Amino acid sequence: MISFPLRDDDEENDTYEAKMLLIGDGESLPPIPLRDGAPELHKYNIRSIESTLVIRELTSQGLSFQLWPAASTLVTLLDNYRRDPSNSPLTATLSSLKPSPLNILELGSGTGVVGIAAAITLSANVTVTDLPHVLDNLNFNAEANAETVERFGGKVDVAPLRWGEADDVEEVLGRNVDLILASDVVYHDHLYEPLLKTLRLMQLEGKRLVFLMAHLRRWKKESVFFKKARKLFDVDVIHSDVPQQGSRIGVVVYRFTTKQPNQNGRIVSC
Ligand SMILES: C[S@@+](CC[C@H](N)C(=O)[O-])C[C@H]1O[C@@H](n2cnc3c(N)ncnc32)[C@H](O)[C@@H]1O
Repeated sequence: MISFPLRDDDEENDTYEAKMLLIGDGESLPPIPLRDGAPELHKYNIRSIESTLVIRELTSQGLSFQLWPAASTLVTLLDNYRRDPSNSPLTATLSSLKPSPLNILELGSGTGVVGIAAAITLSANVTVTDLPHVLDNLNFNAEANAETVERFGGKVDVAPLRWGEADDVEEVLGRNVDLILASDVVYHDHLYEPLLKTLRLMQLEGKRLVFLMAHLRRWKKESVFFKKARKLFDVDVIHSDVPQQGSRIGVVVYRFTTKQPNQNGRIVSC
């Protein structure tokens, strides 16, 4: 267990303990102590494909290089969807998206575990993105799993995407995005606006945007992000994890869909 390194002093007192080894029902290699900055390789069993995913964490390099519980939740949902779509909270969303293969964009991918799992379980074209300094590790993980991704008809590309930067959004919009994924990206209030700006920019094409976001609430002020997001999107909860022992709150998966204008050009809920 590691402590989440970001705390504000004006908010809730929840001490947040993030579990590193939470992906699906998978096995993981024994963790290597990271005091010396050594990389840590985790091997995860994706049950639906009877295959494993290898993900490198570089915990000493910061939060972008670690595995977070919200990512674990999305990986589990994707794995379960592939095993039994008739019994998955993802089915309604995924069946409303017709293209095959699906083009998926992941924001704030970190280690890339969610995007890589999505490419495999949905046989999708996935672009995993993050800040430029995170891309080396993302590339490492994409390459480490490339054979499995290819075997299941998927594809993973790695691209820089800094939230709030219009040029970066333009670059990835060329990829014709059907679905956006993210996990654990609402954690610092100074990032709410840039993230919302990126989502706003992605809606400009006039296409209905569908965004699935897994989130573990830490601070009361995160409601500000959701309040602002609700002006742009209809927001539904499609899944809630049972809280881990000792926690009051579990990971929640939200679906954001673009509000549609009515005949008078006003934004209404779909
Ligand atoms: C808490 S981590 C979550 C990582 C990963 N999604 C997961 O759940 O394991 C937040 C991620 O958001 C990324 N991030 C933070 N600020 C960003 C920004 N301005 N533009 C793009 N990505 C950003 C970080 O680099 C990091 O990878």
